[in-house]
Amino acid sequence: MVSWFLGASPVAAVLLAASEVHASDYFPTTYPNIQACVALPLQYSCENTTALTNSCCNVVKGGLVLQTQYWDTYTGLEFYGQLLPSGSWTIHGLWPDNCDGSYDQYCDLTRQYDPDPSLSVLPDGTPVPPYTGPSVKTFIEDFGRWDLLKYMETFWINQGAPNEDFWAHEFSKHATCTSTFDVACYEPDYKEHQDVVNFYETVVKVFQLYPTYNMLAAAGIVPSNWTTYTLAQITNALYSQTGAIPYLGCSGDGVVLDEVWYFHHVLGTEQYGHFKTINSTTPSSCKADGLWYYERTPTSERDVTY
Ligand SMILES: *[C@@H]1O[C@H](CO)[C@@H](O)[C@H](O)[C@H]1NC(C)=O
Ligand SMILES: *[C@@H]1O[C@H](CO)[C@@H](O)[C@H](O)[C@H]1NC(C)=O
Ligand SMILES: *[C@@H]1O[C@H](CO)[C@@H](O)[C@H](O)[C@H]1NC(C)=O
Repeated sequence: MVSWFLGASPVAAVLLAASEVHASDYFPTTYPNIQACVALPLQYSCENTTALTNSCCNVVKGGLVLQTQYWDTYTGLEFYGQLLPSGSWTIHGLWPDNCDGSYDQYCDLTRQYDPDPSLSVLPDGTPVPPYTGPSVKTFIEDFGRWDLLKYMETFWINQGAPNEDFWAHEFSKHATCTSTFDVACYEPDYKEHQDVVNFYETVVKVFQLYPTYNMLAAAGIVPSNWTTYTLAQITNALYSQTGAIPYLGCSGDGVVLDEVWYFHHVLGTEQYGHFKTINSTTPSSCKADGLWYYERTPTSERDVTY
């Protein structure tokens, strides 16, 4: 980060090195407390669940983990500079399904930051109030994570509403149902919103395992408004790199490709543990052939570096 400076002045470089500053000197850390996990038996989530005794050490709740991505062709907020990253799909989230494929949502209403909840009452009758406090963006800033924020602004893009609303939605709807992001997992030194920032770091990490655009392009599958693809072509290209069948989602009567979900079992925590890809448990909503993988509207994209 300081290489331009080093080149410019060796004297200044020495001074800079001597007084090197780490964000952690000023900002709280984001990691969970996994000291109690060190001696526990290892097991992937949803495999032998009797072996999983500590819900902060293993994904005991929400152990069928989905890394989900979108292929949108526009954002609707281009005028405000909300653009899609060229050459990349975008982040949707990291979802905690139960081992049987069902899922829970809004599991901890003390951490409800979603301004536009997807339901107004939970199945048990508890209301889910829309959040009106400071944006989750300020939580990230409070931890000094401008690097993370920049990445999220580039790759975690909403359609029809600001990006930060989407990030808040994903945390409160989904992360609160993943056991390793429970507040208790950060004790005894929990700092408010530490779990939120730690979740966002984790989402980015897992998203980076799946460069969908590049995997498809490398197999000759590029966005086109002239040629269609078959579901098998797309599935096989991704299978060849991940060893598992992802879920592919299509809108427009099943012919417009716009989603991919990668399924996992996780060893250890989601934060630091190992993600093993497994076949999708959800049948594709795409037709077998004639699939459009549309080019984006050029004015909806920007060039990005990553
Ligand atoms: C599941 O885990 C329990 C507890 O660690 C162990 O006793 C049992 O043998 C395991 N079962 C299988 C099928 O591996
Ligand atoms: C995943 O699905 C493929 C294709 O149906 C199959 O060949 C493979 O055995 C499956 N993998 C597992 C682990 O079930
Ligand atoms: C390709 O088609 C999509 C869907 O109709 C459209 O939104 C997009 O602007 C088109 N892109 C180009 C480069 O023509």
